[in-house]
Amino acid sequence: MKNIDTPLPHSEPCERNKQAIFDVIAPLLVNAKYLLEIGSGTGQHAVWMARQLPHLKWQPSEIEQCLINLQPRLDAEAPDNVLAPLTIDVAEYPWLPANQVGSPPDVLLTCNTLHIMSTSHVEAFWSHAGQLFQADALAIVYGPFKYNGNFTTLSNASFDDRLKRRDPLSGVRDYEWVNELANTNGFDCTADHAMPSNNQFIVWRKRNRQPTEETRLK
Ligand SMILES: C[S@@+](CC[C@H](N)C(=O)[O-])C[C@H]1O[C@@H](n2cnc3c(N)ncnc32)[C@H](O)[C@@H]1O
Repeated sequence: MKNIDTPLPHSEPCERNKQAIFDVIAPLLVNAKYLLEIGSGTGQHAVWMARQLPHLKWQPSEIEQCLINLQPRLDAEAPDNVLAPLTIDVAEYPWLPANQVGSPPDVLLTCNTLHIMSTSHVEAFWSHAGQLFQADALAIVYGPFKYNGNFTTLSNASFDDRLKRRDPLSGVRDYEWVNELANTNGFDCTADHAMPSNNQFIVWRKRNRQPTEETRLK
């Protein structure tokens, strides 16, 4: 039982961006049934969005050492359609317990994570997503991106600097690199929305065939 005097772990950016993300994601989730979120952080997105999407089963997850940031909000506020959190590090596969592998999620969501993960973890994210998700599943990534090696804003360039000083393997990702990883693992980009605070909301859809030379070159 949560002590009511203990404030829940809180992310201010999450509070600021949740409505903008919801406005773009909600129409994509009308027919979705089961969403897996990677790197759920404090659980603010999971709890707030799932409450407005009662038809959707929302599976939050975190790496083991960060479950401590996620569990308290889920204990205190999660609606019934938010499942108990899973421990998922994208580098380790399978992501789901054996009894869930037969009916995988139809949406993968991750917000503000690819620039925090190392490059090899971003590669693992797509390789494992490609193994788990079936045709027509959506993979949605929210966060800052570079295009053709260029930052979209000066503030994203300084953000990248700060990230790299902390962890040289992290940093704002090149859209082209991430898209190539997605393509190689069976996903095609279907939308890219510019969002407030210099972020992008990018959607890929799992195709039901192997990549052709043509899609690989996109
Ligand atoms: C900046 S936080 C974003 C949290 C939340 N999604 C949000 O938008 O507020 C980055 C998250 O990525 C998670 N993360 C980092 N490396 C990861 C990995 N290898 N596998 C899964 N999650 C990871 C961290 O634990 C952290 O919760």
